Amino acid sequence: MIVAMASIPVVLDVDTGVDDACALLLAGLHPGLDLRAVTCVAGNAPLSDVVRNTLTVLGWVERADVPVGVGAGRPLLEDPVDARHVHGSDGMADLGLAPPTLSPDPRSALDLLRDTIDEGAASGEPVTVVPLAPMTNLALLARVHPEAFGRIGRVAFMGGGAHVSNATAAAEFNVFHDPEAAAIVLDACAVSDVPVTMYGLDVFYAPMVTDAQVGALRAGGSPAASLAADLVSFHHRRFANDGATIGDAGAVAMLLDPDAVHTQRLPVRVELTGTWTRGRTVVDRRDWSGGLAHDPHGLAPAMVDVALDADGPRIADLWLRTMHGGAPS
Ligand code: BDR
Ligand code: CA
Repeated sequence: MIVAMASIPVVLDVDTGVDDACALLLAGLHPGLDLRAVTCVAGNAPLSDVVRNTLTVLGWVERADVPVGVGAGRPLLEDPVDARHVHGSDGMADLGLAPPTLSPDPRSALDLLRDTIDEGAASGEPVTVVPLAPMTNLALLARVHPEAFGRIGRVAFMGGGAHVSNATAAAEFNVFHDPEAAAIVLDACAVSDVPVTMYGLDVFYAPMVTDAQVGALRAGGSPAASLAADLVSFHHRRFANDGATIGDAGAVAMLLDPDAVHTQRLPVRVELTGTWTRGRTVVDRRDWSGGLAHDPHGLAPAMVDVALDADGPRIADLWLRTMHGGAPS
C-alpha cells in the first residue's frame, strides 16, 4: 500500500552524484515527503562539486526554500577516493548545466542537521535522516551533538550490502569510503535507540529505468523529466546498457512505499580491520537458537532493518510517475 498521509519530514545527506540527483528530484517533488534540509559530503566527487550539483538540482525544481549545508570534505580517517569514473568528471553526468543561482545555507552541515532534527522533535514530528553517501556528517553529529542525534526519528541509509559489494570485493562504496563513520552511526543508533534501515546493494540495482522510459520522460517535456532523462541516459551510455538503476533514489522511494522493500531486522557490524574486507557490512543471518558458544564476539549491538529484496519495477514506476508530474497528492 502506498503511504498517503501527512508528508514525511526528511533530511537528505548526499554526495551528488548522478543517482543522488535522482533522489533529490524525488524528494524535492513528491508531496509525500517534506524535504526540510539537504547536507553535503565529499564522496562521489570533491565537496565543492557535490555542493554545486546539489544546488543545481534543487534550483532546477524550484526548491530554493530547502537549506543546503556544506559538510565534511573528507572521511574521518581514510583519504578521499571519488567515483568520477561512474558519475562523470563534474560528478553529475557532465551535462554542461549553468552554474546554480542558489547558495548554501550559512550554517555548517552539522548545525543545520542539529537545528532541523531539534525542530522536528520539538514539533512532535521527528525527522527521518537519509544518508545517501559516506556517513561522515552523521558520525560527526553523533559525536558533536549526541543529544540531537538521539532525537532523530529514523535513519534510512544507502550503503553496505548483505551479499553484494562494488568498491572492493567486500565493501560497498559509501561504507568503503568512510568505514569508521558507518561504524559510529550504527553504534550511535543502537545507543540512542534510533531505528535504522539499510538500503544496500542487495536491492540498489533492482529499480531500473530503460531507454524507452527515458524517451517517454523526454517526450513529457517538463524540466524535471528532462533532467531525469539526461541523468539516467548518461548511465545508459557509460555502461552501454539499455537500463540503469535509479540507485539512491530507491532509498527515498522506500519511505513512500515501504511494502515495495522486504527487510529483516538483523545485527550488523562494520568491518574496520580486515585486510581484504575493510568496509564490509557484516550482516548476521545466523539462526541464534543454535547458541553463540563458539563466537567470542557475540551479537552486534546494532539491530538494523536490512533490505534484502525489492520490487524494482514498482519503485522505478513511483520515481517515473513523480518525474512526469503524476505523483499522488
Ligand atoms: C553508492 O555509491 C555512490 O556512487 C552512489 O551515489 C551510491 O550512493 C552506491 O555504492
Ligand atoms: Ca550517493
